[in-house]
Amino acid sequence: MTDKELLQYKREIFELKIEAGKVFCFANIFGNNNPVHIEIGSGRGEFLLKKAEQNPQINFVGIDLKDKRIKTILRKLDEDKHNNVRLMRIFINNESIAVIPSNSIARIYLIYPDPWPKKRHFKRRIINQAFIDVLKKVLRQNGVIEISTDHADYANWIVEHFQNRDDFMTKYEGGFSRQKEENHIVTYFEDLKRIKGFEPYFMRFRRE
Ligand SMILES: C[S@@+](CC[C@H](N)C(=O)[O-])C[C@H]1O[C@@H](n2cnc3c(N)ncnc32)[C@H](O)[C@@H]1O
Repeated sequence: MTDKELLQYKREIFELKIEAGKVFCFANIFGNNNPVHIEIGSGRGEFLLKKAEQNPQINFVGIDLKDKRIKTILRKLDEDKHNNVRLMRIFINNESIAVIPSNSIARIYLIYPDPWPKKRHFKRRIINQAFIDVLKKVLRQNGVIEISTDHADYANWIVEHFQNRDDFMTKYEGGFSRQKEENHIVTYFEDLKRIKGFEPYFMRFRRE
């Protein structure tokens, strides 16, 4: 099988096709009612694949806007080992997230979302009140949003956005922790930043 044929074969198995107006049914997709976790911005897929291998009783959907990233993850996916994983190529925003049913997700991961450090680019930051509203909509009650960033300003920005609401509770006093949790997974981006001397900020917010 050529690389192109292999990718096509894996797309049939792992990639969820986006269609206008379509809302996915995860019970049909995975063939079970296990909890579903989504990762927004899966990059090269280290986090998604390790998490899925550590937690076979949970279904994972990895999302990335770039087909290059989706291809990288497809190459790593194994038909036998990763039957609890699916991928979606989509630019997630307040509208496109409608492909995910309301109250269907137990946990959402945003691992090193782009920090957009320049003030004139702040409007591109994925975390804003409207986006937290849509994350809340897809999360089940008591569902959790996990976010990590290497960027101090962005960490403060994220914490302030959640502190201004009474529908999410922070796990960590002050909004973030600098300590790795058990089974911490180091992604490509975290590795890159640690080499440059940046220590990550870890945040967890539970939907009330
Ligand atoms: C800084 S990288 C981090 C990747 C990975 N989580 C890691 O830690 O190595 C951000 C990733 O998010 C993706 N991305 C950014 N905005 C997105 C959006 N709105 N919807 C889907 N993917 C997005 C980018 O394509 C990129 O792969």
